[in-house]
Amino acid sequence: MKLKDKVALVTGAGSGIGQASALLFAREGARVAVVDIDEGAAKATAQQIEKGGGQALPLRCDVSKAADSQAAVEQTLARWGRLDVFYANAGVPQWPTSVEDVEEATFDRIMAVNVKGVFLGAKYALPVMKRQKSGVFLITASTSAIRPRQGVQCYSASKGAVVTMTKSLAMECAPFGVRVVSIAPVATETPMLPTFMGKTAVDEEGRARYIATVPLGRLNTPEDVAKAALFLASEDAAMVTGSCIEIDGGRCI
Ligand SMILES: NC(=O)c1ccc[n+]([C@@H]2O[C@H](COP(=O)([O-])OP(=O)(O)OC[C@H]3O[C@@H](n4cnc5c(N)ncnc54)[C@H](O)[C@@H]3O)[C@@H](O)[C@H]2O)c1
Repeated sequence: MKLKDKVALVTGAGSGIGQASALLFAREGARVAVVDIDEGAAKATAQQIEKGGGQALPLRCDVSKAADSQAAVEQTLARWGRLDVFYANAGVPQWPTSVEDVEEATFDRIMAVNVKGVFLGAKYALPVMKRQKSGVFLITASTSAIRPRQGVQCYSASKGAVVTMTKSLAMECAPFGVRVVSIAPVATETPMLPTFMGKTAVDEEGRARYIATVPLGRLNTPEDVAKAALFLASEDAAMVTGSCIEIDGGRCI
């Protein structure tokens, strides 16, 4: 078990990559705070963990709100007394749009969740890890940070921001033995995927268009990303910090 006796908090754990990561972390021995803005989804993931014999704490939290983020960390500490892994994964997508047609509110919401949400997670989780002199802070970025697609200029900028934030946080935390790493998945089979394609549901045209851009010839499953997150959260990645790890079937080559 790679996370035996560890305490992990995963944001956006009600669906997709966050859910797959929370389930895998629990199977690998972690007690998991399952954080999501959708309380029902958080509870459903927590129930799945408990059914598998694990321990879970479902928490409703909007990561873009300081009070919510602080409360999520505090409630996790109150339950289990420590925090070994914080996975800042919650995010929102962007419908592909020419820049002149992007609403200011769209930009603001994407930045609030995808960038400020990560900052707030770091603000409240990293002091705990610094005190412990151990911990791993993971961030879900995107291949959009490295090789953006047309029409998602705000989303791509948000992911670029957290890749750079990762490097600065890694420098700040290294003296405390705390690692900070971002993960850049290519298109992943989750409820978010159709939005990137500018569709309400993934269809054959959208899937084929995306697969054509991935040298390995398929899209990610949420489990592909969860397995990378598990490796990075574990001692196996003890010398990895400040990096952005692409899980992309070669998309960024
Ligand atoms: N699906 C993809 O193609 C893809 C590719 C690269 C990166 N990503 C990134 O992966 C991460 C996870 O996305 P996913 O694909 O699993 O999508 P998803 O829609 O399946 O899951 C996202 C989860 O985040 C939650 N969430 C949204 N806003 C929130 C907020 N303000 N506070 C707390 N929770 C919130 C949602 O309720 C949902 O449960 C995101 O950061 C996304 O940008 C996704």
